[in-house]
Amino acid sequence: MKDLDNYKIENKKVLFRADLNVPVVEGVITNISRIIAVKSSIKKLISNKNKIFLISHFGRPKGKFLDKFSLNFIISSLKEVFEIDKMYFINNLNKDKINKTANEMQSGDVCLIENIRFQKEEEKIDLNFAKNISYLFDVYVNDAFSASHRNHTSITGFAKFLPAVAGNHLVKEINNINSFLQNIKKPNMAIIGGSKISTKIKLLNNLIEKFNTIVIGGAMANTFLLANKINIGDSLVEENLIDDALNIQQKAKKLNCKLILPIDVVCGKNIEDKNPVYCKIEEISSDLKILDLGEITTKLINNAIINSRMLLWNGPVGAFEYKPYDKATNEIAKTIKANAKKLNIDTLAGGGDTVSAINNIKAEEGFTYISNAGGAFLEWLEGNESPGVIALKENNFT
Ligand code: 3PG
Ligand code: MG
Repeated sequence: MKDLDNYKIENKKVLFRADLNVPVVEGVITNISRIIAVKSSIKKLISNKNKIFLISHFGRPKGKFLDKFSLNFIISSLKEVFEIDKMYFINNLNKDKINKTANEMQSGDVCLIENIRFQKEEEKIDLNFAKNISYLFDVYVNDAFSASHRNHTSITGFAKFLPAVAGNHLVKEINNINSFLQNIKKPNMAIIGGSKISTKIKLLNNLIEKFNTIVIGGAMANTFLLANKINIGDSLVEENLIDDALNIQQKAKKLNCKLILPIDVVCGKNIEDKNPVYCKIEEISSDLKILDLGEITTKLINNAIINSRMLLWNGPVGAFEYKPYDKATNEIAKTIKANAKKLNIDTLAGGGDTVSAINNIKAEEGFTYISNAGGAFLEWLEGNESPGVIALKENNFT
């Protein structure tokens, strides 16, 4: 695979795929780690006198222009992080516009291209389109590991018509995740949370084979509880996946993987309810929703953490965006922060919400590596190499 160390890019027009799909709340970016992620590659390309055209998606506008998904808002943050004064902007991948802007740009200048998902050709993987656009550039760089699980034109299409090179962050993500997966130390544990079990069935089935203990938290635990005939009140649940939950439990038992499910919880009428009710798992009343783990379960998890040599975390264990339902997630992050280095526990975390939870309480130092990918992280853990990475590996343009 070509990367920025083994493949020299100098004085070129570079089509650079970043993942600028940053979290935004009321117009404000709440986490700039995806911008910082591409800084190293961008800086190198700037210093090597290239003209850089940044492409990214933002949100899911489904092939048409929607003002609220414009990438215009991100320009000031990009300039700040990249430490540059000027950034060009073009509002679509139009041949004349690209050529005109490229002529105006000096070596080392950067141009942002509007949200690639405004183009209907993006998600359709339109190879004709990819070919026509590729002719306007000299080289393609993919530094968007977190979007590389999408088989879209800007991820796999351009790599068919240009020399395709892995950016520094993409390489870093792959190396760190692989190194974690290839150096299994036992006893080990995985904490898997989030709201939907539907998105994590394959992951759980895969992890059961590798981990001694798996904690199941977040609303996805509710499906397991219901499968075990526990009354979960008014909680979020995926009833159609009860059989999958039971299968996972059976498989875990067979393979000697201990599943930790909630034994006590914190409930509320809804996520905005400021009067949480503490319940043992068999005492949940029908009008309540499970919104966080209780103290006993949290202690059980924290105890398992300090007795592990290796830990994987994906998904918050409660409705952590809504206080006071962030407590168990925060306690877990704090325990990892306080103990991982001291006890020499290898720790890997990933997924947008997990990263936000870790950032919220400044627990980064507890992690050997934090991936800024969500879906791409999960698919990699499931054992699937991302289409975007395969496209880079298969690229044989010189
Ligand atoms: C992400 O945020 O996980 C990536 O940017 C991919 O976004 P998507 O799920 O909308 O394809
Ligand atoms: Mg996603």
